[in-house]
Amino acid sequence: MPFLKVGTLGQLPPDSVMEVMVGDQPYAVCHAGGAIRALSGVCIHRGGPLGQGQIHDGCVVCPYHLWEFDCATGEYDYDPTKRVPTFEVKVEGEDIYIQVS
Ligand code: FES
Repeated sequence: MPFLKVGTLGQLPPDSVMEVMVGDQPYAVCHAGGAIRALSGVCIHRGGPLGQGQIHDGCVVCPYHLWEFDCATGEYDYDPTKRVPTFEVKVEGEDIYIQVS
């Protein structure tokens, strides 16, 4: 699977998240704990836009009902058996790439 460029570090300051689209699928790209991570942009609760949420303590917070998911693992903080899919990320220079199917 190829890596696709989805943005630059300049667009994603520490402790922020942005929503990117690949085809018609949204992804949440996070800068948390010094790392860039990518998760599905669709909340597993009721489909909220995770990429439009906020970062709190290494988690992305869904803007709809404030469920929190670990940016590294996608785990829901109250029940780690529930998780949003995560995706590989690489950073080259200023550019952020994610690997999605
Ligand atoms: S839709 Fe995300 S917390 Fe409800």
